[in-house]
Amino acid sequence: MMPVMTMVLHPARGPLVGRPALPGDKSVSHRALLLGALATAPWSLRGLSPARDVASTAEALNRLGATVRVAGEIVRVQGPATGWRDGQTLDCGNSGSTARMLLGFLAGTGVSARLEGDSSLSRRPMARVLEPLAAWGLEIAEGKGHLPLLVCSRPRPATCTVELPVASAQVKTALALAVLHAGGRLDLREPHASRDHTERLLEALGAPLERTSGGFTLGGPWRPPGHTIDIPGDPSAAAFWGVAAALVPGSRLVLGPISLNPGRTGWIRVLRRMGCPVNIGASRGHDPVGSVTVDAPASLQAVTVEGEDLIQALDEIPVLAVAMARATGTSFIRGARELRVKESDRLQAIATMLASFGIDTTMSADDLAIHGRGPGEGFRIGNAPVASHGDHRIAMAAGIASLVATGPVALADPEVAGVSDPRFWETRRAIMAS
Ligand code: S3P
Repeated sequence: MMPVMTMVLHPARGPLVGRPALPGDKSVSHRALLLGALATAPWSLRGLSPARDVASTAEALNRLGATVRVAGEIVRVQGPATGWRDGQTLDCGNSGSTARMLLGFLAGTGVSARLEGDSSLSRRPMARVLEPLAAWGLEIAEGKGHLPLLVCSRPRPATCTVELPVASAQVKTALALAVLHAGGRLDLREPHASRDHTERLLEALGAPLERTSGGFTLGGPWRPPGHTIDIPGDPSAAAFWGVAAALVPGSRLVLGPISLNPGRTGWIRVLRRMGCPVNIGASRGHDPVGSVTVDAPASLQAVTVEGEDLIQALDEIPVLAVAMARATGTSFIRGARELRVKESDRLQAIATMLASFGIDTTMSADDLAIHGRGPGEGFRIGNAPVASHGDHRIAMAAGIASLVATGPVALADPEVAGVSDPRFWETRRAIMAS
C-alpha cells in the first residue's frame, strides 16, 4: 500500500485579499464534452475544467470514438465519423457525473461498454439512472446498481414521464442525453429545482425543450449544431474562498466570473443569512455568469439549511459547515440524505473533520447540528493528521478551516483536491501571500 502523504497547513497571518484562481465549471464542462460529442459539427470549449473528474469524461468519449483534443486554450470536441466503438472499458475514476451522464449518453450509441470507477464511486447508487434508462433500451449485462457495470445499448425511442423522487441534475442530464440520442419524448419532473445547465444550454441551442412546472419536456432524436462555449469559473470551487473570506477578519476576496445558475447559488444565500456581506456584480448570459465579492463580517450567525437551499448548496455543505463551526449558536443541516451517498458519507465525514478541529456536532438520522465556536479563539487542533476521507471537498474544507486554527495542521491525502481543483493548494498559498 502507498504511504498516505500529508501536508502541513499554516493559519492565515492576516486578511486574505485578491482574486483566487478558479477552475472552469465542472458541471458545464461535463455537459459541453457530452453535447459536443453528440453534435453534427465540432464544438470549441474555452475554459474547460482541469479537474480529474472532467478528464474522466473526456477520456471515456475518446475511447468511444469521439475526438477530444487540446489546441492551446481551446478544447475541440467532435463525434466519431463512423459510429461508436463497441466493447470499450470506460474508467469513470471518482466521478459520479461521468458515470451517470455517460450511461444516458450510451443509451443511444448501440454499443456495449464496461464502466468502472474507484472504490468510492463503486459504492455510489446507479439504479436511479439505470432504471429509467431501460425504457430507451439500455440493458445491464453484468452488475447490479453499482459500478462496475457492463451495459449494452439497443436504442429505441421511448415516451416516458419520469418523476424523480430526489432532485438530481446528473439524472436529468443522463435522461436528456438518452432522449436526444435514442429518440422519443421525455416529460421530467423533480421535487426541487436542481441546477439547470443542461436545460439552459439546450434552449440556447434551439433544442425541442419546453419548461413545465417543476421540470421540462424534451423530444428527440435531436443533435446539437456546432458551437463555441465559454465555460465560466466554478461556483463550487469559489465557495471555498468565499468561506475563507468570511472566516478571516478583514478579508475581501473577489470570485469569478463564475456561474450564477440559480441551482448553484445556495451557498451565497446561506452566507448572507449568516450575516456575511456578499455582493453579486452584473450578470450576463442565458445561463448567468458574474463576479461575486465576499467581505469578512464582524461575526457569523447560526443558520439552518434544508429543502431547496440544501439542493442548491449541496456540494458546498462541507465548507459551509466550517463557517457554521465559526458562528455564534447552533446551526442545522436537515434532511441531508443525499450527502450520505456522495464521494464519501459526507454528513459523517463533515462531523469527523470538524471534531478534529475541536468542534462539537450532534448527528441524528440525516440531520447534523453544528455547535458553533463563535468568532473568538481559533479552531483547536489535535496531534493526528486531519483525514480527507478520500473526498476532495472534505480535504478542501479542512484546508479552509485550518486558516483559522490555533497552529499548523497536518492534512492527510491533500492530493485528492485534484478531483475538482488541481490548483487548490497553490491558490491557498497565493491568497495568503497577497
Ligand atoms: C452535478 C449534480 C449534483 C452535484 C454534482 C454535480 C451535476 O449531483 O452534487 O457534484 O453536474 O449535474 P446530483 O445530481 O447527484 O444531485
